[in-house]
Amino acid sequence: MAKGSSVQALYELCKKTFSPPAAASAPATAAAIQKISAFLGREHIMNIGIFCLPTSSIIPLHDHPGMTVLSKVLYGSLHVKSYDWVEPPCLAQSGGPDNFPVKLAKLHMDTVMEAPCPTTVLYPRTGGNLHCFTAVASCAVLDVLAPPYSEAAGRFCTYYHDYPYSTFTSERSNIVNEEDEYSWLEAIDAPYIHMRSGRYTGPAVQVFDSMP
Ligand SMILES: [Fe+2]
Repeated sequence: MAKGSSVQALYELCKKTFSPPAAASAPATAAAIQKISAFLGREHIMNIGIFCLPTSSIIPLHDHPGMTVLSKVLYGSLHVKSYDWVEPPCLAQSGGPDNFPVKLAKLHMDTVMEAPCPTTVLYPRTGGNLHCFTAVASCAVLDVLAPPYSEAAGRFCTYYHDYPYSTFTSERSNIVNEEDEYSWLEAIDAPYIHMRSGRYTGPAVQVFDSMP
């Protein structure tokens, strides 16, 4: 099944499995969870990971093209700064000898999240699709990416440097009312990020091979 239709198929399966909708406080049945797990295991339509960040470590500003991402701070304290692209796109040139292209983005969130706190969700065009994480204190973040990054599907991770709005000028500067809420983003080469993968030693994750 094509990945594009996998999300729709998952939606249809959830609708069928959880219909009629149970009361908000009622937990899903084991059979329902098994059914959804079987689908997810077969289709590989999402990635789930936990990032453990030592104090002051940074995951630089990056995007999630065409993706939905749920992030949950499990413990500790994390500064999150996120943007969404201004639409229609607003482009400019930096000028000067380098004259690199920049694109206008609107600030979505610039805050410290301290566990316990709600899950954040970003979408392809809203919710802070581009974000930067800085660990204020040692912390861990659970990330669910759906669909995952895929070079084959054109979902590359691009890193950016953000400049204050006043740094550059654009013919369409009239679209900006609060300058503090806008930044120009320059796509940059992937920075070096020291990341070590760890071994999951928690409870066994069951993957069901067949869908009931
Ligand atoms: Fe991210």
